[in-house]
Amino acid sequence: MFSRAFQITTTALRTVSRKPSVISTIRLMSTQYEHILTSRPNPSVALITLNRPKALNALSTPLFLELNKALFDADADQGIGAIVLTGSDKAFAAGADIKEMKDKEFSDVYKNNFLANWGELSRLRKPVIAAVSGYALGGGCELALMCDIILASPTAKFGQPEINLGVIPGGGGSQRLVHAIGKSRAMELVLTGRMVSAQEADQWGMISRVTDNVVEEAIKMATEISSKGQLAVQAGKEVVNAGYELTLAEGLRFERRTFHGLFATKDQKEGMAAFAEKRKAEFTHS
Ligand code: CAA
Repeated sequence: MFSRAFQITTTALRTVSRKPSVISTIRLMSTQYEHILTSRPNPSVALITLNRPKALNALSTPLFLELNKALFDADADQGIGAIVLTGSDKAFAAGADIKEMKDKEFSDVYKNNFLANWGELSRLRKPVIAAVSGYALGGGCELALMCDIILASPTAKFGQPEINLGVIPGGGGSQRLVHAIGKSRAMELVLTGRMVSAQEADQWGMISRVTDNVVEEAIKMATEISSKGQLAVQAGKEVVNAGYELTLAEGLRFERRTFHGLFATKDQKEGMAAFAEKRKAEFTHS
């Protein structure tokens, strides 16, 4: 799947320097991918760009394997505080790769748990911001929904058109949409396959906001998140996500315990001392 250059680089990285910032810069810059681009717009942000323009970034298995690899590399990189995921102006992603799927049989998809590896994104500890322009359809919409924050350009179009293919969403759309926009709207999208504009998605609370220069805005947001204490950011992401799964009472208890736990960190001491001393906090992520 990955080039020889990539294998050599990662092997070398396992054995060289212990300085995480140096390692991470090298790793992100040198990994060779076929279907995605990775870059570091600034030292604390990883930018991953889906790059199958001829197929409108259809999410083939090889693309997803590369995406998961790049995401987990960024997640493990101590120099990176947040990740931005984007596509092209025309398409964030037009869904799972229909040409790859069309001849699959039940025994195959069931036995091999087709699409199971899509969910790995939700195991990342660092925040992922989706910067969506153009089509975010089917798996593309689901991929955006798996991210922690969605920013959309005015051209973005969201939808779950699987019903037109004789199937239903398989990457979490039917479930995450219910949480994001409620049953009636989720049902409408899943059963009609209708696309909604960025503005409508905004009104429905499906995204954070519509903005021009969406990638730039996402990088700015990722940079700001990266300037906070990473332990608190990780905890914040964990407790908000727990709200999806727990009852209110359990969620409140989990939030309180996690809040208590942060009093064991140097960042809490530094953050509160800096406020009292009227200076900027210098977080050490410890
Ligand atoms: N899979 C594979 N190829 C795709 C694709 C997809 N999901 N979406 C687009 N493409 C390919 C087209 O086949 C075409 O390739 P060729 O040039 O080789 O013919 C190329 O991308 C450009 O597409 P169009 O010519 O169709 O571009 P358009 O501007 O006329 O239309 C579109 C754009 C409305 C997004 C249209 O491409 C479309 O409807 N795509 C499919 C959207 C869809 O149904 N997504 C759901 C997939 S199923 C899924 O995702 C399941 C799940 O839950 C995980």
